[in-house]
Amino acid sequence: MKFYIETYGCQMNVADSEVVTAILQKHGYILVNNIDEAEIILVNTCSIRENAETRVRGRIKVFQQIKKQKQQIKIGVLGCMAERLKDQLLEQEVAVDLVVGPDSYKKLPYIIDNVVSGSKKVETELSKEETYEDILPYRYETNGISAFVSITRGCQNYCSYCIVPYVRGVERSRSPESIINEIRELKNNQYKEVTLIGQNVDSYLYKDISFSQLLKIVAQEFPNIRIRFSTNHPKDMSNSLLEVMATYPNICKHVHLPVQSGSNKMLQLMNRGYTREQYLKLIENIRKNIPDVAISTDIMVGFCDENEDDHRQTLSLMKEVGYDFAFMFKYSERSGTYAAKYLKDNVPEKEKIRRLNEVIALQNELSYKSKQQDVGKTFEVLVEGYSKKSKKQLMGRNSQNKVIVFDVMDNVIFGDFVKVNVESFTSATLIGKMIKS
Ligand code: SAH
Ligand code: SF4
Ligand code: F3S
Repeated sequence: MKFYIETYGCQMNVADSEVVTAILQKHGYILVNNIDEAEIILVNTCSIRENAETRVRGRIKVFQQIKKQKQQIKIGVLGCMAERLKDQLLEQEVAVDLVVGPDSYKKLPYIIDNVVSGSKKVETELSKEETYEDILPYRYETNGISAFVSITRGCQNYCSYCIVPYVRGVERSRSPESIINEIRELKNNQYKEVTLIGQNVDSYLYKDISFSQLLKIVAQEFPNIRIRFSTNHPKDMSNSLLEVMATYPNICKHVHLPVQSGSNKMLQLMNRGYTREQYLKLIENIRKNIPDVAISTDIMVGFCDENEDDHRQTLSLMKEVGYDFAFMFKYSERSGTYAAKYLKDNVPEKEKIRRLNEVIALQNELSYKSKQQDVGKTFEVLVEGYSKKSKKQLMGRNSQNKVIVFDVMDNVIFGDFVKVNVESFTSATLIGKMIKS
């Protein structure tokens, strides 16, 4: 049978869709890129904010139309919405035939078999052990150069606003051997960059191996592979990690360190486990150890009881840090979380939008400054492909994760490391010239 898969949400879901694909292929199912050829349509979903779920429901409506023409088609919902809503999804969305949560993908081939023979099926048991470490993901949506490698699953930090612990279960770490094996396989297939991913990579722990030790092992084992990682958590990021980052040139000089808010009152309500002062101290420490580091963040405005003063503190923290880039959101209440149960979603929508716009405007200024400071510098860039605009230009990223576009030069192929001197920039990218080596 032919299947088609569509992915929403975070990097973890991208990695999971690659696991799902590998599992189905092993059982004889065939991946198709064109939805019209599919006999099974799978959608891997996200529940992090209301609008993430709304988007998926919109897609299910489109699949329903396809199903009207071809009734034998089966539609499956995977991922975080599957886990959150379980059989409610079958009731609410008539087009849906199967609902499978993030820890049940090994059962997927059997569930599809059952569904084809006529029954509807829901499988969403969260596991304490499942890591899929015995499965080699099938990279189907890839540039062939850079891949995600999951190192932990789940999260138990219980930030008060966040649905992830409820839909992804307890935190589990994969064995270093299985991580190394996966990276070796990528290397053998000419990949040049891996991003180690987890909801909080800093709490990776396998037997007595910590994240900084894992990173050191990987950096030593693969000196010619670029290594990135995400997401760090301000309450857990260690000094030894900074030492490892500073020691190995193949570890990228970029830290994604979500702050959420600059107000201690908000950080406490969010249950983030650090203060503004501790966060700023950590930033100082990162910069001291890794002078050329880029720092990015996530910011959430309009959480319960956030007032104008709290909001001002977020803006002032952003300025103080001078983030290179940021992902910015307005709070969306998720039922079942601590905040939904015990706090009031009392910032009016209009006010949330105003604050979000202010945060975005400030970040635009900061990103501008960050790029301005790169003009005149020379970076090592990993070539990923052509620029979006033209095949006369190549694009890649530097160690700091900034996108750089430059004119095509003879003999350069995708996957090469080249030296590029930055000459100017646009709102999204640095523009440079390659230096002949
Ligand atoms: N594990 C990562 C974050 C994963 S979710 C961490 O702890 O940093 C990515 C981002 O989505 C979060 O950093 C937060 O800014 C945002 N987010 C999470 N829950 C949200 C909610 N209920 N409403 C709005 N944004 C949310
Ligand atoms: Fe959510 Fe917090 Fe876990 Fe991140 S660390 S996934 S924000 S509970
Ligand atoms: Fe969304 Fe699930 Fe990731 S809720 S952000 S896809 S872990």
